[in-house]
Amino acid sequence: MKKITTNSYEIRFSNDGYDYLNSLLSKKSYSKLFVIVDENTDKYCLEYFKSKTSLKPNVLKIKSGEKYKNLETCKEVWNNLTEMDADRMTLIINLGGGVITDMGGFIASTFKRGLDFINIPTTLLSMVDASIGSKTGINLNLLKNQIGLFSDPQLVIIDTNYLKTLNKREIKSGYAEIIKHCIISNSFFDDLIDRSSIHYNEDIIYNSIQLKNKIVSMDKLENNIRKNLNFGHTIGHAIESFYLNKEDKLLHGEAISIGMICESFISYKKTNFSLEIANKIKTHLNSIYPKINFNKNDLKEILSLMKYDKKNYLNNIRFSLLKEVGKVEIDVEIDEKLIMDSFDFYSN
Ligand SMILES: NC(=O)c1ccc[n+]([C@@H]2O[C@H](COP(=O)([O-])OP(=O)(O)OC[C@H]3O[C@@H](n4cnc5c(N)ncnc54)[C@H](O)[C@@H]3O)[C@@H](O)[C@H]2O)c1
Ligand SMILES: [Zn+2]
Repeated sequence: MKKITTNSYEIRFSNDGYDYLNSLLSKKSYSKLFVIVDENTDKYCLEYFKSKTSLKPNVLKIKSGEKYKNLETCKEVWNNLTEMDADRMTLIINLGGGVITDMGGFIASTFKRGLDFINIPTTLLSMVDASIGSKTGINLNLLKNQIGLFSDPQLVIIDTNYLKTLNKREIKSGYAEIIKHCIISNSFFDDLIDRSSIHYNEDIIYNSIQLKNKIVSMDKLENNIRKNLNFGHTIGHAIESFYLNKEDKLLHGEAISIGMICESFISYKKTNFSLEIANKIKTHLNSIYPKINFNKNDLKEILSLMKYDKKNYLNNIRFSLLKEVGKVEIDVEIDEKLIMDSFDFYSN
């Protein structure tokens, strides 16, 4: 049976996950059970979850979308928990994508100084990334994940059955994190990089989770090796923030894909990364994600958003770059000109 043990909690798969949840419930005698869902996971995932556990939790439904990953939504949920007499022995179950696992974890960890929570990720992105690694949080205005804390769940259940109702665009968004994991660890890289469409299976998902967990176990607070996971994210996060209040949304993975293309080029310039492989990464990702045109003003705004990034220190923009596939150099300072040049590489 597949399972992954982290420093403080278990990541269990499919039916074994629900069995483990039942055993947790019988051990811990929680006073109340709440499940946080959004509009879509309420519709597509909740009944299935109930059928797997025979639980009858209180359901707290929030609006779906990154736009609602904010303090107003937290306040609404904290008020609901208060009205429904949640006490310190309450368990929160986050059933949803990265928005729900990030925000639900934050809501649970701050309510009455911290309630237990478990994550049941229902998107590919939250399975391989967001639900693992103990980062919880919300956005502040345009700033992604500006407020939050490191907090461990009691359990994560990975059940790929939830993916059946997820649309193709969201699946692709999650795939960006899978390919990032493959690039920075040199696992499955050769199997994937020459394809012109996405490809994943249970082994690739398992490998992705295992890699993320391994890195986080060594450096939960992101002082060193965890920064490897930020490949593609300095530029990617700024692009994501730029789109946060626009009509046309860009999904996390779509933004990170552009970030990975730009940062592969920056790696070529700064850390001797192979241009040939940078081009392969670009070709692969461009065959999957829509091409975006950025004008000069967009780039200016994106650059200024980059300066707010939590990865920075003393106002310098810092990157996690590739030395080679499977090898990352962290904390590389890059000047604005090279960042601009990397967008030319992306566009051409
Ligand atoms: N904590 C971390 O380490 C970490 C890492 C990566 C990303 N994140 C965060 O994750 C978020 C993005 O996650 P996401 O892409 O899962 O977004 P999301 O939670 O918004 O989910 C995407 C969409 O899919 C819908 N959905 C979810 N599960 C579904 C299902 N099974 N069937 C049908 N529809 C379903 C949701 O309602 C939503 O509309 C961002 O906020 C990002 O900052 C966090
Ligand atoms: Zn990411």
